[in-house]
Amino acid sequence: MSFERKNIEKMQGYAPGEQTRAAGTIKLNTNENPYPPSPQVAKALKSIDVAALRRYPSPMANSFREAAGRLHNISAEQIIPTNGGDELLRLVLTTYVEQLDTIAVCKPSYSLYPVLAEIQGCQLEEISLLDDWSMPEDFLEQLNNSAAKLLILVNPNAPTGALLTTDYLAKVADNFSGLLLIDEAYVDFVDPALNYNSIALINSHDNILILRTLSKAYSLAGLRFGYGIGAKSLIEPMMFKTRDSYNTDHIAQSLATAALDSCEYARENCERIRQSRDQLRADLQKLGLTTPTSQSNFILCQIPESIGAEKLYLQLKQRNILVRYFDQDRLRDKLRISIGTVAENAALIAAIKELGQLN
Ligand SMILES: Cc1ncc(COP(=O)(O)O)c(C=O)c1O
Repeated sequence: MSFERKNIEKMQGYAPGEQTRAAGTIKLNTNENPYPPSPQVAKALKSIDVAALRRYPSPMANSFREAAGRLHNISAEQIIPTNGGDELLRLVLTTYVEQLDTIAVCKPSYSLYPVLAEIQGCQLEEISLLDDWSMPEDFLEQLNNSAAKLLILVNPNAPTGALLTTDYLAKVADNFSGLLLIDEAYVDFVDPALNYNSIALINSHDNILILRTLSKAYSLAGLRFGYGIGAKSLIEPMMFKTRDSYNTDHIAQSLATAALDSCEYARENCERIRQSRDQLRADLQKLGLTTPTSQSNFILCQIPESIGAEKLYLQLKQRNILVRYFDQDRLRDKLRISIGTVAENAALIAAIKELGQLN
């Protein structure tokens, strides 16, 4: 006999990308940063006193909240620190969505959303992006017809890399009676010339929450630290009612605070990654492989039928190069490739050239 709830019994869990620490692997499959975290983070780690771990961590993580407040020029009370951005997603569902409510997302987008919706026993409305990955013209109509309580938009989108403007996001929030969660896991990779900055939206809209993570731009995927940004009225129920009592630990709080305090280092890495992204797109283009413009630290590459995306993924894997293949509608002929170091990207290009017999 199973003790699982009925919906848990019939659901599939989230399938994370392959993780390996094997030396020599070129890991371009889970959008990690190819560069190490800032030296200040290393210093903070060295200065952790192991004896301090017998105490519980700071329950409010106020040092981190203040650092994030300084970074975004908002109040610490508009920030909730979480154990990875994923914990924020779960908290938003627990706090703001009832069982049987509808959650709207775009298709394709982050594959964890449908899993979280199933855990909570919610309906999922997936609104298809157009062929060029832009939003359908009648997006708002589809959204409002679904009667969704929560809309999650990844910006820039994963796995496409497309960016929505803040004007568009404001228009959606203005015309939607539910909560809009803007998942900005990859926002630090957006070209600064585009002047994208959605933070001001939380002051003008009490139905907007923003997700940020230290996993990508700050090279701290192994730390599990993210945060939510929003009006106090949205942050407080999660901060005081639904999160675990000590949801982020002492070591993580110290390192995450050091990371934000040395954000210039992360900014420089993001710039290097943007340059490598342009180079990688150009190199793929020379091989006849197209990728849409991406504002993220990955690109979605179209693989011709003569080569086959799944086949190429498996062949690259045999050579210890991991990229991401999604066995999903509209993605089966594509590979999502995280931007690596200059040398890693060059090794990938050389391998694709040889395996696909391209020149
Ligand atoms: C779109 C998106 N949102 C949120 C996250 C959560 O990141 P983390 O839990 O590592 O902070 C990820 C991780 O890959 C992601 O791709």
